[in-house]
Amino acid sequence: MAEQHTGIGISIKNLYKIFGSDPAAYIDDVKAGMTKAELNDKHNHVLGLKDINIDMPGGGIQVVMGLSGSGKSTLIRHINRLIDPTAGEVIVGDEDVVKMNQLELREFRRHRTAMVFQKFALLPHRTVLENSVYGLEIQGVPREEQEKQARRWITRVGLEGFEDNYPNQLSGGMQQRVGLARALTNDAPILLMDEAFSALDPLIRMDMQSVLLDLQREIRKTVVFITHDLDEALRLGDRIAILRDGEVVQQGSKQEIVLRPADEYISSFVREVNRGRVISVEMVMTPLSAEPQGMPVSRETVLEVAAKTMTDGGEPMAHVVDSSGKPIGNLDINQVIAAMVTPVDHADAA
Ligand SMILES: Nc1ncnc2c1ncn2[C@@H]1O[C@H](COP(=O)(O)OP(=O)(O)O)[C@@H](O)[C@H]1O
Ligand SMILES: [Mg+2]
Repeated sequence: MAEQHTGIGISIKNLYKIFGSDPAAYIDDVKAGMTKAELNDKHNHVLGLKDINIDMPGGGIQVVMGLSGSGKSTLIRHINRLIDPTAGEVIVGDEDVVKMNQLELREFRRHRTAMVFQKFALLPHRTVLENSVYGLEIQGVPREEQEKQARRWITRVGLEGFEDNYPNQLSGGMQQRVGLARALTNDAPILLMDEAFSALDPLIRMDMQSVLLDLQREIRKTVVFITHDLDEALRLGDRIAILRDGEVVQQGSKQEIVLRPADEYISSFVREVNRGRVISVEMVMTPLSAEPQGMPVSRETVLEVAAKTMTDGGEPMAHVVDSSGKPIGNLDINQVIAAMVTPVDHADAA
């Protein structure tokens, strides 16, 4: 037990989902370009997902973001095949979930995945401890081991002392901690979180984001995190994919999304972002062609921190260094400030 899994990647390939009485009849039309509106108007079928291709990093947090109805839940439910696709592949590790038979699928769901839901979905007549052991109970793990694991994760999410409480005795934030403890007790390498924090008050929500980030440094699971909130996406995501009307309109690192929003839809999300906390100096520096200037700052330093370091040091110039300390670019305080307040032209930063 308690073997720590890391690095199981998820690769979604050419995934389509059509809802309706005869999805297979329209897949060729959709592949040939029929739009969601056309499919709906002419054939009374709903295009849930269209040609989704996402490589989710093993051991990282993949965020899927989009407005309500964009297909986020439909997508995440394909990963443990709560929904069968109309076409496409869902490769987890080296297995295609779509091709699994019922027995394989059951084993896969029990041992490789855990879900955290927006509405917590706790069993009301079970205590915190009994909720947390639930997955291991189903797996037939000996009771002593169930409890040992559950107590460990209950403590780890900050609920020590509440083991014998019932869900209705806990606040929303605490209930979601139980949801997280239950998922972690399963010890599955993949954690699926569908708007898990969306129902929480803003401050509690930020707390939970911190709990997850803190845990993730230790557990290194492959986390798929769904949200409609850009701040949450930027805080949590190693990679972010943005859905609209069942299609991926952009995917990449948070920096790529903030610096180069692919279209007006994404720009409208990105406009309000605190750029100084997202963009790193590497993205705005002048690649080294002259002598390194001023003090060194590491390449992943965000603009806000770099600006403070430079002004505190009283120097208008700094140079950017890579992880081995090698200078890779020069940085002018004006460059930093400009990038914090306006979109930068990224052309010569790559
Ligand atoms: N079982 C279903 N039958 C018909 N349409 C569905 C079904 N499930 C989802 N949809 C439709 O698919 C689209 C995406 O839904 P969903 O994945 O729930 O979006 P999100 O989670 O981003 O809010 C929506 O247009 C929704 O109405
Ligand atoms: Mg949803």
